[in-house]
Amino acid sequence: MDGWEWTKIGAAVGMALVVALGGGWLADRLVGVSYPGSPAYKPADLAQPVDLAALQRSWPAGLNEPGDHNRLAGFMRVVDRGGVPLPSADAATATPAAPPPDLGTLLASADPARGKSAAGVCASCHTFEQGGADRTGPNLWGVVGRDVGSHGGFAYSQAIGTHPGNWTYEELDRYLASPARAIPGNKMAFAGIRRPQDRANLLAYLGSLGSAGVPRPAPKAAP
Ligand code: HEC
Repeated sequence: MDGWEWTKIGAAVGMALVVALGGGWLADRLVGVSYPGSPAYKPADLAQPVDLAALQRSWPAGLNEPGDHNRLAGFMRVVDRGGVPLPSADAATATPAAPPPDLGTLLASADPARGKSAAGVCASCHTFEQGGADRTGPNLWGVVGRDVGSHGGFAYSQAIGTHPGNWTYEELDRYLASPARAIPGNKMAFAGIRRPQDRANLLAYLGSLGSAGVPRPAPKAAP
């Protein structure tokens, strides 16, 4: 490399320095930066009032019901957008949502035939006919009104085996809505049936299996 090459390299480095420093200087001239004495926003502006009751209502009680994960994901998405439900101005005056129909009313219009087809999801673990075999779960003939955990020859979990009382329609309804929540520690690996009408249909079917004498809850009179 001769001297001329070194000169070219030096010139290139020099030019680069001039562009970098000069560019910075020029940019500072073009865009003025001023630092105000206090932050432009205050934390108080960010904090929104949160309606804790609404928060609690929209938060799934557990994650063991079908759909709970989706509801939780949807909830997080709403919160991410800053959309925690706020109390609406007319919340006090708005008419409250009608309470869900009670079990008695649902049973009165329940369809045991639909219940029978719904019971297909139980059939991998339960038989329904009189004298039927136990599978993963006990035979369910006459289960309505039967003492909890009393089917002879079936090895129940401690949770079911020591659970007091018998299977009333109400108890069964609670159990089938969410077995894990109704009787913690029981070993029925089944998420539950969410819709009250579906449960009522199923209970009407179960009640038709040798449990005719068991009293049904009376429909509550409309207020
Ligand atoms: C994956 C298997 C499985 C499925 C599906 C299942 N069960 Fe069970 N079920 C069990 C087991 C196991 C037990 C015993 C639980 C224990 O001992 O903790 C049980 C217990 C029960 C009991 C209590 C019985 C008694 O004698 O006290 C009822 C009632 C019941 N199941 C109803 C149903 C119904 C109705 C369905 C369908 C909607 C269903 N189960 C679906 C496995 C299952």
